[in-house]
Amino acid sequence: MVAPPPIRLLVHGASGRMGRALLRLVAVDPRFELAGAITRAGGMVDGVRCLPAARIAAALPFDALVDFSLPAAFDTALEVCLQRGIALVSGTTGLSPAQCKALALAAQSIPLVCAANFSLGVAVLHELVARAAAALPNWDCHLLETHHVRKLDAPSGTALALGQTIAAARGQAPHYLSLRAGDVVGEHHVQFTGAGERLELIHRATDRDIFARGALEAAARVAGRAPGLYALGKLLLG
Ligand SMILES: NC(=O)c1ccc[n+]([C@@H]2O[C@H](COP(=O)([O-])OP(=O)(O)OC[C@H]3O[C@@H](n4cnc5c(N)ncnc54)[C@H](OP(=O)(O)O)[C@@H]3O)[C@@H](O)[C@H]2O)c1
Repeated sequence: MVAPPPIRLLVHGASGRMGRALLRLVAVDPRFELAGAITRAGGMVDGVRCLPAARIAAALPFDALVDFSLPAAFDTALEVCLQRGIALVSGTTGLSPAQCKALALAAQSIPLVCAANFSLGVAVLHELVARAAAALPNWDCHLLETHHVRKLDAPSGTALALGQTIAAARGQAPHYLSLRAGDVVGEHHVQFTGAGERLELIHRATDRDIFARGALEAAARVAGRAPGLYALGKLLLG
């Protein structure tokens, strides 16, 4: 059987911690070919020549854009995907309500996968907290998230997404707590407390490659699909 042609990827936010992980993983994954890389100012990143964001329209043809940048950079990524009718996989967190609205609208024109956390473990954690919240609606519920000191948004996008899952299951959002400490990749700790007992569900990320791997899986599955907003859990697990 002839192997399908590689999926051409444009990496947006290539100089960041996530972007560098993506460049490294794409380089050794035969499913993909790097079509280009974008940073704010352009220049070289780990041997890859990057286009500045202002020149993104000049990027070579690509089949999916993988974006791990900042909210201020996100609109440009969405716009180029809309202009070309190409899939967008975005892990950028801290998007504004207007940006979330633009995403929902864009799903009518292009295939999209957006997730605050691309790890498989967190996809399963959503299922577990939904069950616990539905079974224990009157217990106190706290959600503590811990991340490295350079993370800008709080609570984390993952915490807010888990909070939405909890609220949908028990009609009430959890109490959020955020810690910024050292180089912690990411921890989410959901605690249900009743009289005399406590249930704790914890996810710890120790290697940020899990997010890059999840995003690449999403790109492989969503490139070329019909327009729509595809749920990560369904794409990865279903
Ligand atoms: N969904 C998930 O699973 C997941 C996991 C980890 C992180 N994240 C999120 O992913 C995002 C990136 O995280 P990170 O740790 O890689 O951040 P980072 O190290 O701060 O990198 C940010 C990247 O965005 C680029 N950028 C900033 N402004 C830009 C602009 N105007 N146009 C184009 N590019 C621009 C930066 O380029 P310059 O170097 O040129 O400024 C850099 O490449 C954050 O929102 C973070 O919360 C999501």
